[in-house]
Amino acid sequence: MTLPEIDLKVYSDECDTFGHLNQAAFLRLFERARWEMLEQGPGLDLFASVGVYPAVRKATIDYQAPAFPGDVLRFSQSLIYTGSTSFSMRQVARRLHDGQTVATGEFIFVCIDQSGKPAALPEKLGSFMHQGVPTKDATHQLTVNGVRLAFESTGEGPAILFIHGYPLNRSIWRHQIGALEGWRRIAPDLRGMGESDAPDLGYSMATYAADLIALLDAIGVEKVVLCALSMGGYVAFEIVRAHRARVSGLVLVATKAVADSVEGRKARDMAAATARERGAAAVAESMLPKMVANETSEQIRQQVLAMMESTPVPGIVGALTAMRDRPDSSSLLSELASVPTLVLAGESDQLIPLADITRMADAIPSAEFRVVPRAAHLVPVEQPGVTTQIIQGFLDSLGLKPSGSLPRR
Ligand code: MLT
Repeated sequence: MTLPEIDLKVYSDECDTFGHLNQAAFLRLFERARWEMLEQGPGLDLFASVGVYPAVRKATIDYQAPAFPGDVLRFSQSLIYTGSTSFSMRQVARRLHDGQTVATGEFIFVCIDQSGKPAALPEKLGSFMHQGVPTKDATHQLTVNGVRLAFESTGEGPAILFIHGYPLNRSIWRHQIGALEGWRRIAPDLRGMGESDAPDLGYSMATYAADLIALLDAIGVEKVVLCALSMGGYVAFEIVRAHRARVSGLVLVATKAVADSVEGRKARDMAAATARERGAAAVAESMLPKMVANETSEQIRQQVLAMMESTPVPGIVGALTAMRDRPDSSSLLSELASVPTLVLAGESDQLIPLADITRMADAIPSAEFRVVPRAAHLVPVEQPGVTTQIIQGFLDSLGLKPSGSLPRR
């Protein structure tokens, strides 16, 4: 079952001097469609009856075609995400007579009580809106920072944000996402990788970090433990630099703080040329031997190869550019004294040698440092059980109470 579709007519007082439906008037039509939908569902008095009101936190509208006086617009609407106090909706307005999509809007709401504090999503609204919506804990998609990101959000409790490396996707954290009960496990695909959009341009560590912060904002998560592998670690450093107050802990896996050397930067350009000329498969083939240890099973090797081969070329080239140009984060390490940090390394990592990871761990005051045997670069994939166990121990040591997922207002 889907949510009711709403037809609304465009009138000339909503149009500009060119006769087009004005963009601000369009915003009102999106809102009108939602109220009409509510009237056809749980009733217009729903919010007053429960004392909880939805406040728009963010509105993103993509205007795709003009509409004119007399056009009837059909608004179809769906729920794309629900959290404990927030929800997001997508509304698509199509011209009735020719089916042309005129605009698509995405709206993030936070439920507030009469004093303006975040409040639980009213049950009546939740059950009405959940018609035809993916089940809880399924993969979600949200447009944030101008890009559609796919992500998983599983479980309740303090939040942990998993950031994958290059050229990979969120599935490298499958074991940890499945096992770390008592935590809200959030695992996005970075732009350009996995099921997220892969724009041609616009990749940098700061952009990846801004995407993830916008995603956390959209789903109402304030503080997180960052758990990041390799390039994910470079993104984590960016988040720490720009949003230190939101980071309650750090798990840095197979990563380093130093920037690329001159030779390293040249190698990035050569890899980008390979990706453009010969595709993702050529990049994947050259990376595989360095990604996993010799003793790693053939089944895992094939999984990792398939993951890398499926990464879109713009995402590969974008990530290589972002890594090539990333700032050196070494000076940040001594400032991490107040951030509980766990550093993990695979004993036979060839991409980021153990010596570099050890140096980074030594420079972080009171970081816990663990080396995982029989693993190379992809520690959580090659040794999932041991990795989860070590991360679980670290999370337990933080003493965070299961709460902390309230939206900022
Ligand atoms: C990664 O695994 O994310 C990358 O290989 C890191 C890098 O190349 O610096």
